[in-house]
Amino acid sequence: MSLSSSSSSLMRVGTVVANRALCDEHLRLTLRLPGRTAAAPGQFVHLAPIALAAELDDPASAAPPCPSPLLRRAFSIAGLRATDGGEEIDVIYRVVGTGTQWMASLTPGLVVSVLGPLGNSFPISKDKDHAWLVAGGVGLPPMLWLAESLSAAGKQVIAFCGAQRASLLALELDPNVPPDVDAKQAALSARAFARSGAAVVLATDDGSLGFAGHLGAALDAFSQANRPDPDDLVIYTCGPERMMHFVAGWAADRGIDCYVCMERAMACGTGTCQSCAVEVRAPADKDGWRYALCCTEGPVFPARNVLWQTPTTAR
Ligand SMILES: Cc1cc2nc3c(=O)[nH]c(=O)nc-3n(C[C@H](O)[C@H](O)[C@H](O)COP(=O)(O)OP(=O)(O)OC[C@H]3O[C@@H](n4cnc5c(N)ncnc54)[C@H](O)[C@@H]3O)c2cc1C
Ligand code: FES
Repeated sequence: MSLSSSSSSLMRVGTVVANRALCDEHLRLTLRLPGRTAAAPGQFVHLAPIALAAELDDPASAAPPCPSPLLRRAFSIAGLRATDGGEEIDVIYRVVGTGTQWMASLTPGLVVSVLGPLGNSFPISKDKDHAWLVAGGVGLPPMLWLAESLSAAGKQVIAFCGAQRASLLALELDPNVPPDVDAKQAALSARAFARSGAAVVLATDDGSLGFAGHLGAALDAFSQANRPDPDDLVIYTCGPERMMHFVAGWAADRGIDCYVCMERAMACGTGTCQSCAVEVRAPADKDGWRYALCCTEGPVFPARNVLWQTPTTAR
């Protein structure tokens, strides 16, 4: 199984179709784009706070400029649908600073500049029938689209989704399907995953929804109750680095293949600025490691290759 990589980068004008709140701090932005790409889950787009007026038929539709000058911002593609002559993408974002505040102000009909799809994608194993997706906080977006692709490939998918508290979980829940507080079973309680047939295990740090505790502990509890076959399972994870560090070690201890979706500050997104280094194992190198660029070699890496710089989530 190899990681697929996209070498082509595309600059397009994206028209805002919708931009609505999903929970306290996350919104989903849907953009309509001209032309179709061979994008795959794990890839990201680089959004600029302006579209050049010269690119536009109607310069008045350009989104208002960001209050301060801004580099492009990277966002995983959370969903992609073909439309007549083009495609629609979803981006789910948490408002954390200048750029994401500006994104939250976008209204339908305005246009922004979209570079992408960029980066590589999650590999889908031909041989393994089960996939567990472990998504902490704002690591959720790429997992939604990955669940669709895995289900279409005939895999049995379970998504583990965690947040600090229920009001920060960017998922619409089915009120008739309560989550299991012991994390012993998964349920079709999150509509976006249920549409792909994927059951979820929910966890919150403060216990306001589902399992009370961190997502790694929920993963462990579920695994102990359900005893997966390590040879028939792949784990994919995205979220805070210390959580991914934990999941990577947990999977390695059990001989389970694991892929992580890394996040770095990205100035260019295309391999030029060198701002997005990830330290990876390189047995052939004299030091045994090297820097990989997250934007072009990643953002998806085999978990066993990453040299973690963060502490792991405490058990
Ligand atoms: C490949 C890739 C995919 C990504 N996918 C997503 C996604 O799907 N959804 C999403 O919301 N974000 C995603 N991010 C992170 C996103 O790029 C940043 O949140 C965004 O650039 C913040 O821009 P800003 O101008 O609002 O914040 P800035 O003004 O740049 O930062 C404001 C403050 O927020 C802090 N900050 C910056 N980023 C984060 C963060 N991620 N979490 C918490 N605090 C932060 C900064 O340290 C700073 O203190 C992704 C990043 C990468 C590299
Ligand atoms: S973001 Fe510039 S090299 Fe990766």
